Amino acid sequence: MDEKVAAFKEIRKVGVVGCGQMGGGITQVCAQSGYPVAVSEINDELLQRGLASIDASLTKSVQKEKITQQDKDTTMTRIKGTTDITDFGDCDLVIEAAVENLDLKKKIFGEMDKVCREHTILATNTSCLSITGMAKATKRPEKVLGMHFFNPVPVMKLLEIVRTAKTSEETLDTAKKFGQSLGKTIVIVQDSPGFIVNRLMAPQILNAIRMLESGIATKEDIDTGMTLGLNYPMGPLALADLVGLDTLLFIANGIYDEFREAQYAAPTLLKEMVADGRLGRKTGKGFYEYM
Ligand code: 3HC
Repeated sequence: MDEKVAAFKEIRKVGVVGCGQMGGGITQVCAQSGYPVAVSEINDELLQRGLASIDASLTKSVQKEKITQQDKDTTMTRIKGTTDITDFGDCDLVIEAAVENLDLKKKIFGEMDKVCREHTILATNTSCLSITGMAKATKRPEKVLGMHFFNPVPVMKLLEIVRTAKTSEETLDTAKKFGQSLGKTIVIVQDSPGFIVNRLMAPQILNAIRMLESGIATKEDIDTGMTLGLNYPMGPLALADLVGLDTLLFIANGIYDEFREAQYAAPTLLKEMVADGRLGRKTGKGFYEYM
């Protein structure tokens, strides 16, 4: 990847709101694909932590000889961290990856609408919140859509693009081409709770937790069953730990609120673990323990 330049010229600069696990991954992938990226956090401490994570992830790739030190250095020079959202003023696409709170996201979309130029596309990486609701906070609903990436972003090949009733064909087409330029495979879905993947993933993980709760199998056997029996890269309980139990609970509640179907009702064990701060990999403890 020496001096790679962005493949898709309509997007010359990308903004990413939030430099956590998802925002950091999105920033890394965009920068590695040749795009200059401005990434924001709410304070300098979180920003430096997020940038350090991207640096560490790229260092691992250098150590594994997947990229050269020069590739890493070039990628890092494309990334500009900021705590000032007016730095998004010259972005052609802004991807919001802040915490999952609809009011907060509406506020961010309202601010972006004021700061960004008329042609700029505003996207959200939300896992299940209403994108139509976020679009309403702007004067450009035709330029708003979901770009839902998967964790870990540098590894996962899918990008779910979520259109609302107001998203224009032009916006959709630009988002598709941009996603393809990141090396992702695109699926398109209408705005609805959980979109395609989380709507199907949630009942499976919730059922695995219910099985564990009822004592019909150990967590290891549930995960081994699904890993070897269905050729999944990891079992549902390990996946829950990767996603984050708080995020899983948020997704389950969000979809349950809409459909009122028992399959989306959060099991007691999940609620208890979240209340206990056992959130999975990010806290070092979930269904499994992590060093
Ligand atoms: N960043 C960059 N690369 C990473 C990485 C990361 N965070 N994590 C793993 N990798 C790379 C490794 O470097 C390795 O690359 P290599 O094969 O070229 O050396 C490769 O991925 C495999 O990693 P490991 O050997 O460390 O471990 P595994 O083979 O067990 O793979 C895994 C780990 C990629 C996480 C795999 O288990 C997997 O794909 N699990 C399923 C993940 C999944 O389903 N994610 C979707 C969650 S749902 C979601 O995100 C939606 C949201 O809204 C909730």
